[in-house]
Amino acid sequence: MADHLAALVAGYGRPEDVIRLASLPRPELQPGMVEIAVERAAINPSDLIPITGAYSNRTVLPFIPGFEGVGIVSRVGADVTDFKLGDRVLPLGASGLWQATLQRPSEWCFAVPADLSTEQAATAYVNPMTTLRLIAALKDHLGSSSGLSGLRIGITAAGSAIGRMLLLMLSAAGAEVTAIVRSEATAARLPALPGLQTRLTGQQPIGKDMMFDAMVDAVGGVTGGALLQNNLSAGGVFLQYGALSGIPIAQSALAARPDVRFAFLWLRTFVHSAGRQALSDALAECFDGVRDGTFASEIAATYPLSRLSDALAHHHAPDRLGKVLIDPRC
Ligand SMILES: NC(=O)c1ccc[n+]([C@@H]2O[C@H](COP(=O)([O-])OP(=O)(O)OC[C@H]3O[C@@H](n4cnc5c(N)ncnc54)[C@H](OP(=O)(O)O)[C@@H]3O)[C@@H](O)[C@H]2O)c1
Repeated sequence: MADHLAALVAGYGRPEDVIRLASLPRPELQPGMVEIAVERAAINPSDLIPITGAYSNRTVLPFIPGFEGVGIVSRVGADVTDFKLGDRVLPLGASGLWQATLQRPSEWCFAVPADLSTEQAATAYVNPMTTLRLIAALKDHLGSSSGLSGLRIGITAAGSAIGRMLLLMLSAAGAEVTAIVRSEATAARLPALPGLQTRLTGQQPIGKDMMFDAMVDAVGGVTGGALLQNNLSAGGVFLQYGALSGIPIAQSALAARPDVRFAFLWLRTFVHSAGRQALSDALAECFDGVRDGTFASEIAATYPLSRLSDALAHHHAPDRLGKVLIDPRC
């Protein structure tokens, strides 16, 4: 069987420095497994964090990055009855999408509806499902299973893919939403939603006159700490799901607000505990959101895997608009 191209991480560091492209053998297919010929994989910030060694306690070297992508079933192992050659699937639950062929247990593969394009399918999982989990967590924490109408909710990194999805979902739910971004250029690109307020972060913290019932934060560091300390009402919730600043929220900020509930949300906790039916139901919601535009991701560009360094440079470019995808077949 011919070797295939893969991105390989053998040591931690800056992704640009430590990922190398390798031609790897395609292993024998074990019973219960399917082989997937990957058509498109996404580059998400959450793919890059494990490469830096941030989760070294639960990462085994060497590994192949990429938590999100779509492909076609190219081989079917013994005992697999739910998939056949040619089926289009999303493999969930492990990294490895940044390679031409991937093997996964069939129970971790999910069929992709025929009406979704390859690009839509390749961005239909990580960010949409994280958004759904964040909305569910907000409802849990705020004790408002009936809805989020009228609640004041701040969203940091609001120009990110998840930020935009949150803005759309929370506005539709009737929340009073404030988009918190770091530049005028990003503010200008936010969706035009009725009542949406915008605040810029910068040298000065946001004034204490602006208070929230909940903050959904992907930035952490000084920005997240100041918002936690200064801008949450007593009894409010600070829901963190990322640290784009690369810095955790200071303990002093957490200690200063014992009256606020602080929680960190991990998509992987849900994915690895929900069970197949719940994951299937969640994916169905994600696909619906892609169809109606709520979970649509703009695509900045698609690069062959052989040009991964260009793809990573584009991902990091300050003027990037949308997701960078990889085509692992070339
Ligand atoms: N907890 C989980 O399970 C989970 C799951 C998925 C994703 N995430 C996290 O969610 C976050 C967003 O992911 P995404 O895929 O939506 O991102 P994305 O679409 O790639 O957008 C990221 C954007 O955030 C902004 N940004 C970057 N650094 C920033 C900083 N220091 N301060 C403020 N804004 C900054 C930039 O936009 P501008 O240049 O326009 O400001 C950047 O384009 C990431 O932190 C990711 O790791 C977490």
